[in-house]
Amino acid sequence: MLKGKKILIGVCGSIAAYKTATLIRLLVKQQAEVQVIITDAAADFISPLTLATLSKKPVLKHYTANSETGEWNNHVALGLWADLMLIAPATAHTLAKMASGLCDNLLMAAYLSARCPVAVAPAMDLDMWHHPATQRNISRLQADGCYVIPPGEGELASGLSGKGRMAEPEQIAQWLSLFFTASNWLKGKNVLLTAGPTIEPIDPVRYITNHSTGKMGYALAQAFADAGASVRLISGPVSLQLLHPLVQITPVHTARQMHQAVMERLSQADIIVHCAAVADYAPAQIAPQKIKKQEERLTLDLVKNPDIAAEAGQRLQWHQVHAGFALETDHEEANAHQKMLRKNFDLIVLNSLNQKGAGFGHDTNRVTLLFRDGKREDLPLLPKNEVARIIVQHLTQLLQTKSHVV
Ligand code: C5P
Repeated sequence: MLKGKKILIGVCGSIAAYKTATLIRLLVKQQAEVQVIITDAAADFISPLTLATLSKKPVLKHYTANSETGEWNNHVALGLWADLMLIAPATAHTLAKMASGLCDNLLMAAYLSARCPVAVAPAMDLDMWHHPATQRNISRLQADGCYVIPPGEGELASGLSGKGRMAEPEQIAQWLSLFFTASNWLKGKNVLLTAGPTIEPIDPVRYITNHSTGKMGYALAQAFADAGASVRLISGPVSLQLLHPLVQITPVHTARQMHQAVMERLSQADIIVHCAAVADYAPAQIAPQKIKKQEERLTLDLVKNPDIAAEAGQRLQWHQVHAGFALETDHEEANAHQKMLRKNFDLIVLNSLNQKGAGFGHDTNRVTLLFRDGKREDLPLLPKNEVARIIVQHLTQLLQTKSHVV
């Protein structure tokens, strides 16, 4: 999977730098092309000669390659050359610089110039890792689109034991292979996705709606498209924009319009995800004129909207993967589980309203994934685009499993 991939590896000053030598060896063995940049501090931990020998390329450290001839290391060219930039080990200091956009060495200049995906493999002592400042920087980097290969737990160079040691070279190499395969996984597959709220008109100026902003659904659309799928996004009214060659948006307002748009495209879809917060009821009649303020009380007559997910579940073909969301305020898991069965979902994503930073309008979300076969996965509070990426990975696996069961 790594054959011919161009990987720019930044090495920072941490004892874990010795593991990067093994990582480079593994990547070169898999025929990746590796270019190493080191910081001044990294050179105290590992010899550039070692890294240059393993990567089969001179190691870059400063802007100037040869001050006498004026030869320089072009950080912009490095950023454009790479298919992926990996900073391993990434120290607390470098993570902080990345989060703030500081540019005081060749590595940071290459990071800021890079147009390719960037991943970091942090390494530090456990208290440094858990420090709110580091965690803030990690969240910031994730929000900026960086991937974080989480550190492992165990014995640390300080003698303490806990979380902070850089992921093992084999794990990082596997992460990289998965990363490069993931972007092709869904090539040629069709995804049908609903997002946002629906609005149900009462009269020409008023409507019933909910707090959904569509952020989770749009993040999913982006993640599916990043994985190579053609995405049809049926979107209620939101103030988000998504410009992606693989995403086509069909804007709708009401649940009935969303229902029609989904049913028209259901049979062509490989994966169907219902992320929209569909209004359960709509006014039975839409008043043709603005309703006048008269009596002390006003009763609205509401009728049930079609349950799009339940109907899609009934019409589902054996090879299609079907998923939805649940937002519960009581007996969360039991209710979500029942919903999964009723709507014939392979996976239901349980949103928590009780968690700070999760739910409507936030850029982060905390969810539990419940699978049809009884498996479950509790995710920590993560940026919505990271939650989306994990959901897409699971749905891809489910699709692969279904296509093998012929
Ligand atoms: O029944 P409930 O609204 O809690 O179910 C939530 C799931 O069902 C979500 O995936 C939502 O998008 C979907 N749904 C739907 N049509 C409805 C109501 C919910 O597709 N009318």
